[in-house]
Parts: sequence; C-alpha cells; structure tokens
Amino acid sequence: MVDVREAAKVLAQARRVVVFTGAGISAESGVPTFRDALTGLWERYDPQALATPQAFEDDPDLVWGWYEWRRTVISGVRPNPGHEAVATVEARAPRCAVVTQNVDDLHERAGSAAPLHLHGSLFAPRCASCARPAPLTGGAEPAEGRRLAPPRCEHCSGPVRPGVVWFGEALPEPVLEAAVQEATECDVLLTIGTSGLVYPAAEIPKVAAMFGATVIQVNPQPTPLDAVAGINLHGAAATVLPALVTAAWG
Ligand code: OAD
Repeated sequence: MVDVREAAKVLAQARRVVVFTGAGISAESGVPTFRDALTGLWERYDPQALATPQAFEDDPDLVWGWYEWRRTVISGVRPNPGHEAVATVEARAPRCAVVTQNVDDLHERAGSAAPLHLHGSLFAPRCASCARPAPLTGGAEPAEGRRLAPPRCEHCSGPVRPGVVWFGEALPEPVLEAAVQEATECDVLLTIGTSGLVYPAAEIPKVAAMFGATVIQVNPQPTPLDAVAGINLHGAAATVLPALVTAAWG
C-alpha cells in the first residue's frame, strides 16, 4: 500500500503521462496472454506457424481462422476495471498517451480516446497484396482450431490478412514514432501487464526512463522492466489500477 500511495503521488503531480500496456491488462477480461505458464497462447501454439508472413503464405486458412477465432473471443468479453482506470488516468492527467501492444479493442471500449496500437489491431484487416483496408466480415462462425478461408480484396482480389504485426515485420512507423516521442517527453510512464520481452516495443519504458521519467510498473511477476521501474506494484491490473487512481485523484 505504501508503494501505491507513493505511485499515486507521482502520478497526480505528472503533467505528461504515458500508459504502456501489454496482454496482462486484458487477462482479467478473459483474453489469454502470450507467455504466462499454462494459459499463454505461445505455450499452446507455435508462433512460427501462426504469426509470420510465411505462415500466412503457407496456410492462409489456418492463420485467418486462428485470428478470427481470437477476434470472436475478444468481441465476447468486456473491458475490466484496469482498462477503466487507464481511461480515468487519461481523463485526469493534463496530457496522457495510451500506447498498447494489444491487438484487442478493450481500451477503446473502456473510453480511451485514441490508443496507439504498436502491434496493429484485430479489427483492421487489410489486403495482403495491395495493403488497402478491408471490411470486417461475418461469414462462417470461427471456433478454436477451425480453418477459414480469408476473404478476397474487393479492389485486387488478393487475400485479406489480419491487421496485426507479425514476427519479422516492422511496426507501423508513424505509430512507433508517436509512441517514442511521447516516451521522451513524459514525466511518468506506467507500464502494465507486459513481459517486456518483445522489441522494439519494450524500448518504450526504457526510453522514458532514459529521458528522466519515473517508471511505475504493474505486474504480478518480475520482468526485465524491473531494472527501469522506480516503483513496482506487484499485483493484478484490475485490482492495483483502480486503487492507484483512487489514491491519486479520490
Ligand atoms: P506476455 O504474454 O509476454 O506478458 C504478459 C504479462 O502480463 C506477463 O508479464 C504477466 O506476468 C502479466 N500479467 C498476467 N496477468 C496479469 C494481470 N492480471 N495484471 C497485470 N499483469 C498481468 O504479453 P506481452 O508483453 O503483451 O506480439 O507480449 C508482447 C507481444 O508478444 C504481444 O504484443 C504479441 C506477442 O507475441 C504481437 O502480436 C506482435
């Protein structure tokens, strides 16, 4: 509790805040993380077979079906008090940027205005050939393990792919640039529910620390970001974040 009070004081005094989130913030909504033992997606699935451009080329139905299943899971859950607390930080801090590695839309649904999606979004498919945005389709009911043929692009008939960043692909440049800029200029960076293992995203808290911001981490487990976190709040996002926001602003 002492740490929550200390973090709340720093947060309430900040002029510019960056909230940096990973899969852990959505865990309590029922969205699996990637690397948590037993429940993490990369514990059960091979990322090389599902999350690379080569995987989509080799087996588009497998990859499209898997991402459509994940989109269905996310559409069926709700933001949790952690996402809501982030929206409160955004409303109360004089300036706040939300930077997320998540491809879900739970920050938006909790009221965050325009989160920067470093790894893209499940809700923004695009053509794999001409890169033009494609509409979200209904069609066959996705289910875990069910293959689905990707729709065809209405402009060039190329296969439509999920609008997410795959291993080996570059992050969307304007989004990354905006996130780095915010990190260099913030007073406080709140890192929530990320293992801090995936680069370049994991640079964001490090950049903030390097430029003098106080890094506050919320995570039940130790992570490599412990090294830059001035304050470590060990616990689950949906419990710790509402307590932090209440302590900061009442
Ligand atoms: P990870 O699965 O690597 O890490 C999830 C983190 O959340 C871990 O550190 C957990 O301890 C923590 N965690 C679990 N439950 C939590 C809770 N209730 N509250 C707070 N924290 C909790 O997920 P990310 O760090 O987001 O990339 O993974 C980064 C990237 O790797 C993802 O964006 C994805 C993946 O491959 C792409 O899709 C490109």
